[in-house]
Amino acid sequence: MPKSRLSVAPAVIKPTPEFRLAEPIQAISPYQAVSSLDEIQARPGLPAYKLDWNESTVPPSPKVAEAIRAFLDQAQHLNWYPVLNSANLAARLEAFYGVGRDRVLVTNGSDDALSTICTTYLNPEDPVLVISPTYQHFLVFAQSRGAQIIHHYAPDPFDKDIPGVLDALARAQPRLCYLVNPNNPTGVHYTPSEVARLLAAAPSTLFIVDEAYSEFAGITAIGLVEAYRNIIVTRTFSKAYGLAGLRVGYALARAEIIEDLKRVFNPKSVNVLAQLGAIAALDDQVHLRWFLDEVERSKRHIAAWCEVEGVPCQLTPANYVMLRFEQAPWVVRRLREEGIYVRDRSQMEQLQGYVRFSVGTLEQTKAVLLRLSAILRDFAALNHTGAARQ
Ligand SMILES: Cc1ncc(COP(=O)(O)O)c(C=O)c1O
Repeated sequence: MPKSRLSVAPAVIKPTPEFRLAEPIQAISPYQAVSSLDEIQARPGLPAYKLDWNESTVPPSPKVAEAIRAFLDQAQHLNWYPVLNSANLAARLEAFYGVGRDRVLVTNGSDDALSTICTTYLNPEDPVLVISPTYQHFLVFAQSRGAQIIHHYAPDPFDKDIPGVLDALARAQPRLCYLVNPNNPTGVHYTPSEVARLLAAAPSTLFIVDEAYSEFAGITAIGLVEAYRNIIVTRTFSKAYGLAGLRVGYALARAEIIEDLKRVFNPKSVNVLAQLGAIAALDDQVHLRWFLDEVERSKRHIAAWCEVEGVPCQLTPANYVMLRFEQAPWVVRRLREEGIYVRDRSQMEQLQGYVRFSVGTLEQTKAVLLRLSAILRDFAALNHTGAARQ
């Protein structure tokens, strides 16, 4: 097998001495993102199951490509900047959710919304409460503002902890609280009334409720946006709608908050093809529904498989599951050799031995589990001789 480019440790690049890093950045190490994309592209003959970044496992609605093709065939105005603030898409989203005007800011992926929120509201040393373990990249946005991150870990990482969060809010008095709902990677999910309880308990904390996976879970805190002035909901087209490559996300909040965010937001940061693609994807709810149903069926299948195989498993309301293995790195390596790319979350606090699998269609899931069964059989045989422990 060719040597994987991903297995090569990234070169250590020293900061330039003449351009001193801004102070908050000095404490941040370069983000060592690991994506299987390079490896998949380097092995075009091998069927690949890209289950490492919680993306959709299928292309988006065919209407997306149609809309982009029609634009390129007809207008071809790639020489013009896109519609500012993605005004057309923002209006579509406001109508779709039945919220008033000026409640949506469309961003370059929801990461861009998270970054814009941190730039808009954080001063150095501001406490930011993060319900952890969770999506790591948010930490970079908050740390780059010099904020002080306070993690709250529930006693059980797979269970919600309202008293613990209420206590942490009271003690930290944070300026921002970051709650991923359902959480990545644990799947912990707070209901809208539970979120409302948190909002009411800490009225001077601005809550970011990151709903990147909310379509899968089927519930949302968007209904709280009018009643509470301290909530911003962030969402994305990268997951259920399958548009990760186009980079479109959005923030939903009261008009005053959206206005605040626009002080720093670049109104031309979402490109024209991404805007058109997202409108087409939103318009095709049949395609979305089909994929959501497939993911549900797959999760049921995984649960049954885990039962039979004796693999500890945490299902989530999102499009990923967490499976626990005695030798997680070994299983992940073997899966990779089979063209199946998953994410070992063992290094995260409380998640020792857990591997996150994105969930796709039932057919894809069956193919993956077939290989996983064979790998576990190998493990049992090798374990017998001690070889799998090397
Ligand atoms: C919880 C969470 N928020 C945000 C993102 C980023 O999404 P986007 O592609 O919209 O920037 C991710 C991506 O994995 C995520 O898991």
